[in-house]
Amino acid sequence: MNEMNTITIVGSINLDRTIRVEKMPKPGETMHTKEIFSSGGGKGANQAVAAKRSEAKTQFIGAIGQDDAGQVMFELLTQEGIDLTGVVTLENQATGQAYITVDSQGENSIMIHAGANNAFTPAHVRAHQQTIEQSDFLIAQFESTLASTIEAFTIARAADVVTILNPAPAFTKVPEALLKVTDMIVPNETETEILTGIKITDEASMQEAATVLHDWGIQAVIITVGSKGAFYSVDGRSGMVPAFKVEAVDTTAAGDTFIGSLSSVLKKDFSNLEEAIRYGNKASSLTVQRFGAQPSIPYKNELSEEI
Ligand code: RIB
Repeated sequence: MNEMNTITIVGSINLDRTIRVEKMPKPGETMHTKEIFSSGGGKGANQAVAAKRSEAKTQFIGAIGQDDAGQVMFELLTQEGIDLTGVVTLENQATGQAYITVDSQGENSIMIHAGANNAFTPAHVRAHQQTIEQSDFLIAQFESTLASTIEAFTIARAADVVTILNPAPAFTKVPEALLKVTDMIVPNETETEILTGIKITDEASMQEAATVLHDWGIQAVIITVGSKGAFYSVDGRSGMVPAFKVEAVDTTAAGDTFIGSLSSVLKKDFSNLEEAIRYGNKASSLTVQRFGAQPSIPYKNELSEEI
């Protein structure tokens, strides 16, 4: 039996407000919705929930505001059993919120108010240095302060903790200070193009983009390509791991589920990367068949059948 990984996530906590519609509204259009609900979200928190539901020891560093949304999120993540010692409540900041529209094809559009996610500082990260140092993996996204992420990755690198960057939502110029302390990067097709300037059309273009990312000093690259699966490149090995074929009703948090679940089974030397991707693909194939972010993330017992 595998030993349980210890995973720390530095990142965002959002309360998601989801509206389900038949089709996306055009500018100026008014339409009726099919359903409206609130649930746990935020890329960081979703990844933490995925890791924890796959039974990794999971710790979180981030921030909420002093409001109802913050209280709801703190309670939800506490119920998951995630260690929230590193979550600070910031006065005069709203808890992050995401307004998500999902159409009948399962596609979504998301607007985020970052609030407290964009207000926690490197000093706050330093206060939880030991939490990071005691981890196997540290994961971050681009929904919270960049300076705090760089601080966390720098602490991790010095302590031989493997760093995983999910550059979402992407921005064009990722600082060198972050790239040089990143061990693995997990962008989707769009984020890969924004980062590298290479349009992802086929496996050759993915390999080309991966080479650029390796040249920046990143050891392992996974490019997620939705219903097609994921491309990987590490230590001279590369290839596609196909996705499980399912009917998607809501793709929200599919990528987050993939990263959190994959990290729960990944070995620090990436020797089982292909197998871990398969596990992540299985997990996200369940997520897309359910509505909402955190409510849709599967538990380990749902993933234990032969994959
Ligand atoms: O990746 C999905 C997440 O993006 C949602 O839960 C929403 O909060 C946004 O952060």
